[in-house]
Amino acid sequence: MLGVSAGREPPAEPSDVARTASVRDLSPAELRGRRALVRVDFNVPLEGNRITDDTRIRAALPTIRLLTDAGARVVLLSHLGRPKGKPDARFSLDPVARRLGELLPVPVRFVETVDSDDAVRSTHEIPPGSVVLLENTRFLPGEEANDPRLARELAKLGDLFINDAFGAAHRAHASTEGIAHVLRPAVAGLLLEKELAYLGQALAEPRRPFIAILGGAKISGKIDVIAQLLPRVDGMLIGGAMACTFYRAMGLEVGRSLVEPERVFMAKDLLAQAGARLTLPHDAMVAPSLQAAQQAHPVARSAIPANEAMYDIGPRTAESYGRAIATARTILWNGPMGVFETPPFDAGTRAIARAMAAATGDGAVTIVGGGDSAAAVAQEALESAMSHVSTGGGASLEFLEGKTLPGVAALDQVA
Ligand code: 3PG
Repeated sequence: MLGVSAGREPPAEPSDVARTASVRDLSPAELRGRRALVRVDFNVPLEGNRITDDTRIRAALPTIRLLTDAGARVVLLSHLGRPKGKPDARFSLDPVARRLGELLPVPVRFVETVDSDDAVRSTHEIPPGSVVLLENTRFLPGEEANDPRLARELAKLGDLFINDAFGAAHRAHASTEGIAHVLRPAVAGLLLEKELAYLGQALAEPRRPFIAILGGAKISGKIDVIAQLLPRVDGMLIGGAMACTFYRAMGLEVGRSLVEPERVFMAKDLLAQAGARLTLPHDAMVAPSLQAAQQAHPVARSAIPANEAMYDIGPRTAESYGRAIATARTILWNGPMGVFETPPFDAGTRAIARAMAAATGDGAVTIVGGGDSAAAVAQEALESAMSHVSTGGGASLEFLEGKTLPGVAALDQVA
């Protein structure tokens, strides 16, 4: 589902503009012995009690280490899943606490409540330089409602607030947004900062040529990102089933491929606006159905049979997209090129991941939006070959759409 960024320095920010305050702005005296309340995104995939991908836990370690090294008492808050405002054992953070304990050299205590006297007591009891993880914030009805009363209760758990939950920064919840108004200083953690630096630089001052690769099933989910990025990029390469809605707009036969009929008009509009900057797949991998994957074969985009559907970009497209990636200096990728869970329709997505990894090696800035594209990069074990793999699915999309992330907007600003 997710990836962790490589150990590179994030891009520098211009120094003369207001920016979100960072945990790095806090002096050792502000941290030593104090209770640093950190909102992390430990929303990790679980099979029963087993964490199937601990990327998000590892991504939070730099901030936690910075704080424990400084002698702070680290109090962690997170959501997990969507338990609908009441306790549900399936979404307990207990397995996460155990995994965190394996990853950190300091003790990690788990407390089974969040807004209780026990929880507050634990934050005072743990020794400086150690960690306590409290139970799932979404066990509380006030969390998603962003109840100010809950925010005030949560504020009792710390002496300062650090938001490192980029993946949840698009949610205005009590533990992400509300709390930042009552517990100050309220600053960004290292992960949040790094995410904003990479994604922000791609939007504001990318090294050129700058290309965006956008995939996924539906134009409707990506329309705002396409509109936001089109004026900024030198090229936009489209993949995934959403290519078929564009094909339909071009008057091509798409057979049984997934098309959003109500978006065809919009696709026409985008094609007219974008001109040569927008590239659609030249060929497609098609099959009679997803179940008949063994009958997959490549066809030109103008030759999709009426009784078959496109499930991936074709090999010629994978090659030409690879060449485009090799000549770019900034590459931003969001969304798979095909149904990558079902081979051979994973080939296009894997090819993009490998081309991006090679481009990183040649000095390009490569950024992978979270969600499915990050999962594909993880499957290829190429996370460390990218400049940055976002830990946020919905959050990175909303950021790229130009939306304000409430969890970030509520933090302190420095001149
Ligand atoms: C995510 O996985 O995208 C974040 O943790 C947010 O989770 P949510 O979509 O349940 O708010």
